[in-house]
Formats: sequence, structure tokens, C-alpha cells
Amino acid sequence: MLDYIKKIEQEALSELGNIKNFPEAEAFRLKYLSRNGLMAKILDQMKTLPQAERPRVGKVANELKSKLTLEINYCLEKLRVGASSLEKIDLTLPGLNYQLGCLHPITKTIEEINQIFISLGFSIVDGPEIETQRNNFEALNIPLDHPSCDAFDTFYLKRQVSADEKTHLPAGRQGWAQIKPSEKLLLRSHTSPVQVRFMEKNKPPFSIIVPGKVYRPDATDASHSFMFHQIEGLAMGENIRFSDLKGVLTVFAQRFFGKDTKMRFRPHFFPFTEPSAEVDISCIICSKEVNKDSHCSVCGGKKWLEILGAGMVHPNVLKAVKIDSEKYTGFAFGMGVERIAMLKYGIDDIRLFFENDLRFLGQF
Ligand code: PHE
Repeated sequence: MLDYIKKIEQEALSELGNIKNFPEAEAFRLKYLSRNGLMAKILDQMKTLPQAERPRVGKVANELKSKLTLEINYCLEKLRVGASSLEKIDLTLPGLNYQLGCLHPITKTIEEINQIFISLGFSIVDGPEIETQRNNFEALNIPLDHPSCDAFDTFYLKRQVSADEKTHLPAGRQGWAQIKPSEKLLLRSHTSPVQVRFMEKNKPPFSIIVPGKVYRPDATDASHSFMFHQIEGLAMGENIRFSDLKGVLTVFAQRFFGKDTKMRFRPHFFPFTEPSAEVDISCIICSKEVNKDSHCSVCGGKKWLEILGAGMVHPNVLKAVKIDSEKYTGFAFGMGVERIAMLKYGIDDIRLFFENDLRFLGQF
């Protein structure tokens, strides 16, 4: 009996290997595994065997039945998958093109600028986009009657005092009208208020970079947007001088725009720095051209491009944040990220950064 089962096994396995389609598979199943199939017959013959042999032979027969069931199911699965995928795959079709994402050019520019300042020992700090009038103006030595405090230059928020806050306010100050002007909220119009926040919490020496969004109610055109990005710099310590500011900014400009870039510091006025300067770089377009008289669309023939404002932190600012201006001095600077990216990449319209046109964004 055992020899017979062995023979059946060999035959069945060789037949399985030759099955090429569903009818052949069905014929195999009928022959071996159906109710009247060979396996059923073998198991039926068990009762003719001597009692002692039954368990051993029965075990072998049952194992063969399970094995053939598994094999035929596997064979059917192969026929199914093979048939459908043969129908679907057209090897002559062009491959699928997966679009890779990329960083926004403004994010990239900020990261590149951050890296340069990190290598010079600066740390990255951030602050809230909703600020108080005090941090955005007063503590920065901008009196509330200064033109830039005017509602036309800043988005003010209609602040409603929440029920929770009301309970903490003294009587008579429960409502917007009672809020002190310095507590009024606005969308920060520059990143300089983060100087105030940082200096109130940290003791010099420190040097920080603050990238972030700022808001101004400008009509949108090729060079204005109501929201744009700035990067603020602040270094404070004993004996920090204007020459340190010049050195740091020169290293930055040469690494960012190229090693032949020249710098020019023009005297300027900012309420929060004294002395103050506007900083220009040599025009990256026409400084490379041989004919210096040609009209350059980037600098308009001036040969210089303004890139940032800077200066030595005003003693009144240090007073507002309770830092001893006799002991500590520091420099600060602020630059517009969109403007810098436009100059570096030759982009002539700021709106391109915000329109999410992949033909533009995909170039970076
Ligand atoms: N906050 C200034 C601006 O927005 C830039 C600036 C920052 C100038 C720090 C000097 C020092 O124009």
C-alpha cells in the first residue's frame, strides 16, 4: 500500500508540473482530490488493511492529500495572477514619472543664510507673528507718534479680551478701549521685536539670527507684498564694535553672493540703532560685465544694490530691556529674504514666490 501511495505521489507531482491552464487544473483536481478521486479511494481502502498498519498508512495518505491540495491551490493562484498581469502589462508604455517635491525657494534661501550665520557662531531664534505695540515699536525706541506706528504701516488686530483674561484685569480696564496702547496687538511689521523678547530673557554675550514672517499693508505689486520674510541679526557683549558688524556682514555677503562681492555702508537712520547704516553690495549682474556703462535692469545702472539695514543697538533699547549700556554694546541688522533671493536668482517679481506655480517653484 505504501509503495502504491508513493507511486501516486510521483505521478501527481509530475502532472502538476505540466498544468498550463484552468481546465487542466480542474482535471487534476477531479482525478486526485474529488469525492471519487484517487485520494478518496486510497483512504477508503484503509479499512481493508490490518488494524496494526492503518495508522501509519493513513498518516502517509492524509499527508499526501494535504500536499496535493496545497499544490493545486498554489497552481491555480499562479494561473490567476499570471493571466491577469499578462493582460495588463504593456512593456512599450513609457514609465511612470513620479514628481519629487522640493523646498520653497524662500525656505531654501533662509536655510542657506542661517547656515552661514551658524558657522559664525550665531544661534537661530524665533518669535510670535502677533506682537504688542510695545515690542514692535516702543521698546525699540520708536515713539508711538513715529510715522511707522501709523495704522497705514501696520496691521492692527481688533483685540477682544477673553472672559478668562477679563477676570485678571483690574476694574475699569475690561475691554478693548481700556487696553493701554502698548498692549495693543498687531502683526509684527519687522523681526526686530524678537530682539526685545530675547534680550529680556537672556544675559549677554549672545549672537542670534531670527528668520520669520512680517506684515505690512502695502499694495501688492512686483516688489511689494503684504507678507514677506526678514532675517534679523543681533550680537551683544562687551566690546562689540561697528567693525565687528562690518566683518560679519562682509563674510555673509561674500559667501552668499560670491567672493568678489564688495560692500558699501551708507549712513542712515533707524530709531533702534545708532549709528545706523544701509548696506549695499556691488551689483551681481553688471559688476561681472566688461562694459560698465550698459544699462543694467537689476541695479538700474547704479552698480550697487541695497540688501539690508544695520547699526549699533541704541542705548534706549538696552534700557528698555534692562541691559547695562555702559557695560554691553551690540550690533543688529535686518534683511528682506524675498529681496535677497530675487537678487541672487534674478527674479523680477515678488508675487512669483506666493503664487504656487510649479513651473516657477520647480526651478529651485
Ligand atoms: N527692522 C528694520 C526694518 O525692518 C531693519 C533693521 C534691523 C535695521 C536691525 C537695523 C537693525 O527695516
